[in-house]
Parts: sequence; structure tokens; C-alpha cells
Amino acid sequence: MSKVADLSLAAQGKLKIEWAQAHMPVMAKLVEKYSATKPLEGMRVAGCLHVTKETAVLVKSLVAAGAEVSWSGCNPLSTQDDIAAALAEEGVDIYAWRGLSTEEFYWCIEQTLKFRPTLTLDDGADLIVLIHNKHKELLEDVVGGTEETTTGIHRLKAMADAGDLKYPLIAVNNAQTKWDFDNVYGTGQSSLDGILRASNILLAGKTFVVAGYGHCGTGIAFRASGMGSNVVVTEIDAVKALRAKMDGFSVMPMDEAAKVGDIFITATGMKDVIVGKHFESMKDGAIVCNTGHYDVELNLPELKSLSVERREVRPNNAEYVFENGKKIFVLAEGRLVNLSAAEGHPSEVMDMSFANQFLSLIRLAREGKNLENKVYDVSLEQDALVAETKLEAMGVKIDKLSPEQVTYLTDYNAGT
Ligand code: ADE
Repeated sequence: MSKVADLSLAAQGKLKIEWAQAHMPVMAKLVEKYSATKPLEGMRVAGCLHVTKETAVLVKSLVAAGAEVSWSGCNPLSTQDDIAAALAEEGVDIYAWRGLSTEEFYWCIEQTLKFRPTLTLDDGADLIVLIHNKHKELLEDVVGGTEETTTGIHRLKAMADAGDLKYPLIAVNNAQTKWDFDNVYGTGQSSLDGILRASNILLAGKTFVVAGYGHCGTGIAFRASGMGSNVVVTEIDAVKALRAKMDGFSVMPMDEAAKVGDIFITATGMKDVIVGKHFESMKDGAIVCNTGHYDVELNLPELKSLSVERREVRPNNAEYVFENGKKIFVLAEGRLVNLSAAEGHPSEVMDMSFANQFLSLIRLAREGKNLENKVYDVSLEQDALVAETKLEAMGVKIDKLSPEQVTYLTDYNAGT
């Protein structure tokens, strides 16, 4: 069964999936290995993650490894309808289209629960929370789950701390081969891609304000700087603010940044980062967007109440006009600009993130029943395997420690 926007888009979706496959060599290696042994046979995987060409490669890989799969998108604006159509045409159980209402969003997730999943794969934790709060009857079948994103991990850790987490979860986001690459280079490039597709603005010479200097904010700041913008960072964490300063960026509170910025992007995971008073002090023509998981970082209801008019001036670009004629442009309705206005992170970087998803689900299929109901990190061995496979695919060789060097590592008597 499936429900997608338009099946006639399947041929276009298939071409994009082929493109992604050609740029995801780690996934290709894993499929080659595990389609023979089928470690996911008997597993029913409910997935709730952005429907993109890269996700399609993940879905097909899970099927090749023996899993039954049912899928929904994890954000109302991020589904690529041609990809959803291609998966549906291949017989994948998928419920996803771009432009879901909140009601439809949860309806889609609910459909994926009908086959009683044994494993869950989530991005943002909506699927996991839905099972825990509304479908407790499913908990007995679930052996474990994975979580893709920083925001989702925060929610799951809060659940675990409250004693409410009822099955083991693996924090794929926290793998080094995920967050040092996907969050930094992926978000950096795809967020600028979204801003450019929605505005085609020149970045050189602009003041570009990045709220949040975690992995994602760092990636965005460096990429914007590389395109010639003067980057301003806002932070609430002293260490991260210090790092931004020493990386060469200006650091100031949002109250100040709001007055000087030409382009604003939030990457914090926190609500109300840019609110009415900030919109009020922004320059005429400022462009504002968000790349965090939820659309709570920009307070758009406050912007609406300050405006006398709103119109779509380009795809994913809404102009808000104030009484005095000042205009503010909001991209992608404050939803993650990289997936709503562009295609998300490029395939090469999702290759590593999804290799971690794939391997973590295999681990859970094997060991899930023996794990505690807490949030686990990806193992160091898995991180090393993903990095080594990626390097090999890129044709990069590295050095090895000699036996003498290994001994030196553990010899505490070896000093000056
Ligand atoms: N998150 C960010 N980029 C993505 C992509 N290309 N596919 C799936 N999830 C993503």
C-alpha cells in the first residue's frame, strides 16, 4: 500500500535515485555484503525520515538485506514527490507527499505502524514518541530503533532520563562519521543551496547571521564565509561562542545581530530564536530562514502580526510587508530550508550517515533484545569501518602505526 502525490513522477524519481546510488559507494559495499546473508530477514522496519533520493537508496538497501519496510516523511515540506512516486511504483509501502498538514503528517506515520514494526528508524523522534504515547500495544514487538538527528536525540535522552523510554535506541547522529560530516559539510552546503534556490541572492559582501554554532552552524558559517559573506554568529553557549570568535567570526547577541544582518539562518534546535522584536529591528529586505529540525526557531506568528501583507514572490520565498513599507523575506515557511527549498545534503555525505543507520539496524536486529532501554552510541568499530570504507572508495590511503609505535603508545616510562 502507498499514498503519494503523483505516481506519474516515478520515472524522474528513478533517475535521481540512480544518481544517488552512483554517489553512495559505502552503501553499495554494504548492500553487496549483506544482500547475500540477509541479516534483516524477519525484521519489519518503520522509517520516518525525509523522502529524498538518498533515503530511497537506504530503503532499497534495507529491503536488499531482507527487511520489510514501511515509510513516512519526517517533515511536512521535505518529501520529494518524484522519489516517493518511484518508491511506491517499486512496491514500497510509503505514505508521503510534500505539503502535509499536521493531521496528514501523523496519519502517514500511523499507516507505517500497521504492520507492527520490530525496528524503528526515526529523524526527529516523532515516530518513537507516537509509539510510546499512543501505540503502547506495539512496544512488545519492537527490539530497537535508531535516531538520525540532534533534536531527536535530545528528546530521547529526556525520555530516558524520565524513565519513559521503552526500547533501546542507537544515536546515529552522534557517530563521528555522521555529525562531523553530515552536520558540518552536509548542512553547510545544503543550507546555502536552499537559500540560493529560493532567492538567488549574492552572498559576497553580505552580512550573514548564523544562530547557533554547533556542528550545523559551524558548517554554514564556514561555507558562507567562503562565498564572501561577513559572518556573524549568535550563541548561548560560552565555549561555542569562543570557538566562533577564534574561528574568525563576529559574535554578538541576536538583539544586535538583527540590526546588521542581510541574511539570517537559525541552526539551534531551540524555539523563539528570532522573534517579533528582531524582525522589527531588521533592515528592509532582510532574508530569514531556518535549518533546524522544527519550524519553531523563527516566531512567524509574531512576524505575521507585525505585517500588513504577505505574498509568495518566488517558490519558497514569502515577502512580509510592514505598515511602513519595510519588507522581510522568509524562506520555506521557516521549515528546514535545505530540504524544503533544495534537495537536502548531497549523496556523498548521506552515504556515511545512512551506512551508520544500516549497520545500527543490523546490530539491533542481532542484539536488541539484550540491550537496555537507553540511548546507545554507535560503536567505535562501526565508525572506523564507515570511515575506512569511505576513504577506500575515494581512493585515499593513510598510514599505519608500526609495532614499535603501538608499543610506544602504551609505554608510560617513555618520556624525555
Ligand atoms: N537530511 C539532510 N539531508 C538529507 C537527505 N539528502 N536525505 C535524507 N535526510 C537528509
